[in-house]
Amino acid sequence: MTLGVALGLVGAAAPVPAWASAGSAAGAAGTAAGAAAGPGPEWIWDDAADPLMVRMIEGGHVPAINRAWESWVNNNDPIPGGLPSDFAAYLAQANRLPSWADQAKLDRAADFNRRRDTYLFMLYGLGSGIMSTVIPREAKSVYWSAGGADMQDRAAKTFTFGYDLSELGAFKPTGQFVVTANKTRVVHAAVRHLLPQSPHWKAVADESVPISAADILVTFHSLGTYVHQKLIEWRIPYPAADQEAFLHMWQVAIHLLGVPHEHIPKTWAEAIAQSQRVLTPILTPSTEGIKLAEDLLGLTAQIDLGVTRGFLNEFVRYVLSDQVGDWLGLRRDYAAAALVRTAWPAFILFREGLSPVMPGTFYMFDQFIRALAMLFLNKGESGRTTPITIPTGNRAG
Ligand code: HEM
Repeated sequence: MTLGVALGLVGAAAPVPAWASAGSAAGAAGTAAGAAAGPGPEWIWDDAADPLMVRMIEGGHVPAINRAWESWVNNNDPIPGGLPSDFAAYLAQANRLPSWADQAKLDRAADFNRRRDTYLFMLYGLGSGIMSTVIPREAKSVYWSAGGADMQDRAAKTFTFGYDLSELGAFKPTGQFVVTANKTRVVHAAVRHLLPQSPHWKAVADESVPISAADILVTFHSLGTYVHQKLIEWRIPYPAADQEAFLHMWQVAIHLLGVPHEHIPKTWAEAIAQSQRVLTPILTPSTEGIKLAEDLLGLTAQIDLGVTRGFLNEFVRYVLSDQVGDWLGLRRDYAAAALVRTAWPAFILFREGLSPVMPGTFYMFDQFIRALAMLFLNKGESGRTTPITIPTGNRAG
């Protein structure tokens, strides 16, 4: 089985350039004209946030911004005081939903996230999270940025993004996701200025400026598109309205991260086709990625998940393929492998009311899921706040 098939990321690959614009791929439904004329997303970074963050970093304003925006949490919180005026003006204009956001779909997505939280949690956490370590550009930039030195803290912050995104009312005035996404966008802009100054990153990078719009789309495919396909593969009840709502939520999220509208996939079919072109072929191990995966999976050694490390390794292999497991050097545990492959589908059937038989392993999976959630939530214990901070430097070595 090829890697793409294993990940559910392969279909009939159409002979189109890797970054054929979302608009043109969508045909008549897309907003083709602008996209076709402009540069591809691999040549787009963030015209609004990047120059601003150069000024903020060079002017030494970042510590003050980090302090000032600690209490800036809810979408309808006023822009905090104590910020440089151009930074405050940027936030005021960026911190809003796009005109095309559809609150009814976002509400449905929130409800879907609540109903499906177990699967989403496992798939984002162990599927997408570990997949990020075999996306070389992402792994190298995460490893060599300041946050790479403390993976538990970084994982907790990234978890905040997923948590705020998935919360009921995330996009409403009283929700927190719009703020979290904007903080993330600003962090990415800072990283674009900082990482090119890292001799370590420069020695391993195949690009001069990290985190292009294309890179963000690749990461979206490792999150949203991957999870969408796994839910279908696992035969989780997932009606069309839920699918549409889940896509819409991600479209708004990617917009808030600064990806131009014309490059955001319009349908799941388009997203899957793009993912086959731009994500599956680039998955490969790197020195940095292998260390990050070990850091992430090693975090779990600190708490009792009710399962062994061998089980955890095999669960990752189950959701990401043996190829990825081999790349990352995840030690085999064949007894655990057999258990995961039979017990997880039985767990799903029982949870979905599709089988009356409660598997003997039900509580084991239940505890596993809870413990994983607590691992990340405990660290982000400020709870309702968003502990995302702008880095001022890179990882030292
Ligand atoms: C920071 C999410 C795409 C590299 C962050 C943070 C979040 C986040 C929540 C702030 C928390 C933290 O500091 O760790 C996302 C999401 C993405 C995305 C949701 C796309 C859907 C990318 C891509 C790259 C990247 C494509 C690189 C190729 C980084 C780096 C940091 C960061 C280097 C800074 C970590 C530090 O503080 O040193 N991202 N990200 N991200 N992200 Fe992303």
